[in-house]
Amino acid sequence: MTNEPKTWTTAELRQLYLKFFESKNHAIIPGAPVVTKEGSNTLFTTAGMQPLEPFLLGQSHPQGQRLANVQVCIRTTDIDSVGDDSHLTCFEMLGNWSLGDYFKDDSIAMSWEFLTSSDWLGLDPSRLAVTCYAGDDTVPQDTESAQAWLKLGVPAARIFFYGRDDNWWGPVGQTGPCGPDTEIFYWVGDGNPTGEPATNESWLEIWNNVFMQFDQRDDGTYEPLTQQNVDTGMGLERTVAVLNGYANIYEIDILAQIIQTLPAGVEDSRRIITDHIRTAVFMAAAGLAPSNLDRGYVMRRLIRRAIRHGRKLGINEPFINKVAAAVIESLAETYGEVKSQEAIILTILTAEEQKFGKTLERGLREFDKAALALSDNKKELDGAVAFKLYDTYGFPLEITQELADERGLIVDVNGFNEAFKSHQEKSRTATAGTFASGLADHSEQVIKYHTTTHLLHEALRRILGDTVQQKGSNITPERLRLDFAYGAKLTDEQKQEVEELVNEHITKSLPVTREEMSPDSAHKAGALGFFGEKYGDRVSVYTVGDFSKEICTGPHVANTSELGHFKIAKEESVAAGIRRIKAVLV
Ligand code: GLY
Repeated sequence: MTNEPKTWTTAELRQLYLKFFESKNHAIIPGAPVVTKEGSNTLFTTAGMQPLEPFLLGQSHPQGQRLANVQVCIRTTDIDSVGDDSHLTCFEMLGNWSLGDYFKDDSIAMSWEFLTSSDWLGLDPSRLAVTCYAGDDTVPQDTESAQAWLKLGVPAARIFFYGRDDNWWGPVGQTGPCGPDTEIFYWVGDGNPTGEPATNESWLEIWNNVFMQFDQRDDGTYEPLTQQNVDTGMGLERTVAVLNGYANIYEIDILAQIIQTLPAGVEDSRRIITDHIRTAVFMAAAGLAPSNLDRGYVMRRLIRRAIRHGRKLGINEPFINKVAAAVIESLAETYGEVKSQEAIILTILTAEEQKFGKTLERGLREFDKAALALSDNKKELDGAVAFKLYDTYGFPLEITQELADERGLIVDVNGFNEAFKSHQEKSRTATAGTFASGLADHSEQVIKYHTTTHLLHEALRRILGDTVQQKGSNITPERLRLDFAYGAKLTDEQKQEVEELVNEHITKSLPVTREEMSPDSAHKAGALGFFGEKYGDRVSVYTVGDFSKEICTGPHVANTSELGHFKIAKEESVAAGIRRIKAVLV
């Protein structure tokens, strides 16, 4: 008799995880809504610890000091990675917490037992590796975690130490609980495990254990908390894929059910539609509807991007209803509140499809026309075209950028912002100040990132030297992206210095001013300006306090105090000699 390999379901892993932590005296608590309340640090719940912040800071929790749950998390900052084997904008996080109860040794021992014991997941220990915090001037190396792993039999060669970028977690906002973490990786590559998690993508992170011992203050300093906490997060979808030996997460039960409603074709597009509609269903179930206003705009972008990818798959009729119904079916057993709202969720999503469906074809034709009209040596689509696509045909800027990218073009984002601003001004005048469209709000976040990009550009030049030159920029309501010429990977210290320098100038509440002058005077005044030097007789120069001066069409915030706290989310190479930084304001 042959032993069929077991196929794990998501329901099984959820239940087993909660059962394990129940057996370790944890109270099982419900997850929080995915859409956060107005005034929260983030638009959506991004981590299981977020609703628990007051308790991590010392308030006593009515259900005790040991908690566990399943939290649906939305992280749209990962949107650019969706389509690969493991990233989602929405995932279920299995989490357990110690609120001043057990600490590193016990947390690590419990994780190891759950992952490797044949009573639980029974994963092969020889395919696991762990990372620990390397330490810096303020917080020493996490040797306790490394010792705990060694004691459990993890060989020293599978324990890696990394800095702030990799092994530090939190705070979610500008201030709050944070600390070093230890992360657990599973080898999903062919052959024997090799290399290390920082450089080999076949090491897939499945779980992190954060040791929340600090409260990050406004000024960036760390205040030790009165209690030592543990906050862990395990990705449900990834772990089920790993347990089943699948090459990608879309093979797991709840995602396979959705993706198979889509025709074969461009695989990235199938994955993007699956992910985005699933996220939009969770948002609709939480009471959100697409709009031009912050949370609603994120939802609108997800749905419209999915529809556009439907066209790439050759689907020319409405299809969101079918995909969304499959999503709801996949969630019905676990998330009864989603199933019970099926009718309203489908109405919200299909109304958005109808609305966009009316203008999509014409917008695509308009895009093609504009792209074809570009001469061979002009690779940049006018901002005015992108604005027309936005304003007349409902194309979020990111869709136009994606279309451009597919043809090796870029979009003049400054020009788009300029057109946006002048449209707003005209509308304001026309309606005698009663203009209250959410467009303004969408643009505000983009404007904040725009000013932050100037601060980052200057900070990079001060820390890395003035050979640093901006090569490109892409801004969405969730993040900025800056490409710049520089020959080497930034060290953790350099990234930290850049963050500190940007934040220092945000905290200084510097005014942002605009002056018009000739390009010559602008250069003489020391203004940076690298964008193709295609200036007319007069240019705008934006000055941020005594820190930065750049030729730019704007728009910008009036004062850096409007920006929030700056954080580098990723630093990577995009081409020889060109680095890319993605950063967020929290
Ligand atoms: N446990 C922290 C996180 O990954 O969200």
